[in-house]
Amino acid sequence: MSESSVGYLGAMTAVELPTQVAEFGDLQIQWDARVLRPRWWTTAQSYWAADLAASCPEGPILELCCGAGQIGLLTASLTGRPLIQVDRDPVAAAYARRNAAAAGVLSDVREAPLGLAMGEDERVGLVILDPPWVPTARVQEFPEDPIEAIDGGNDGTDQLVLGLGVAMRHLDPGGHIVAQVGDYDQVTIVEALLAGLGGGAGPRWTIAETRDYTPEGVLVDIVQELGR
Ligand SMILES: C[S@@+](CC[C@H](N)C(=O)[O-])C[C@H]1O[C@@H](n2cnc3c(N)ncnc32)[C@H](O)[C@@H]1O
Repeated sequence: MSESSVGYLGAMTAVELPTQVAEFGDLQIQWDARVLRPRWWTTAQSYWAADLAASCPEGPILELCCGAGQIGLLTASLTGRPLIQVDRDPVAAAYARRNAAAAGVLSDVREAPLGLAMGEDERVGLVILDPPWVPTARVQEFPEDPIEAIDGGNDGTDQLVLGLGVAMRHLDPGGHIVAQVGDYDQVTIVEALLAGLGGGAGPRWTIAETRDYTPEGVLVDIVQELGR
């Protein structure tokens, strides 16, 4: 099932790439080889986030590193919450907009780097974070994936750490951050990072639960420790 890239998407490259369609839950997601191919296993991130949304404060869902947008879109379609989606890649942002329109989901898609995407006073009820998490030395093991979409730096956590900072700054108390990491080494890095936060009067954060989808990846639910 494919059609040619058109309009803005087609203008992004001199080479016309075929648009493909992936099933993601009950959504049909358009993408092409310039963005990460939607992975079926990551529907688990959407379903988990949708379950957690029931106990989150009011407000939109924020998806950081949305790519073609499918994880946030499935969560939003299951919960009825509005969505803010962020990706620095113009092709990914254009697909996220197109996929939101096709899914009938209200999404404010922002083509921006993580640190510039949110207004200082903006608050959300739930964050989904899908950063690149492949260590730079291993990106050549995934020749079909765009390097910018998977390269997470030296230990794979550069964008993960940046994204967590943005998530913590904009999440209302009682909200959840459902993040995707590569493996349990990266879970340990996140634990160490969280343990180092919250000195003095600052809030403390913790991993509430980890779900194992290895070898594809690991999902973590991060929450603020309330009452401190
Ligand atoms: C691993 S892909 C995930 C895409 C999508 N969520 C999925 O699962 O298919 C990471 C995405 O993050 C984007 N990205 C990486 N670093 C970023 C940054 N600093 N700011 C904004 N977007 C970034 C990339 O363009 C890419 O689309």
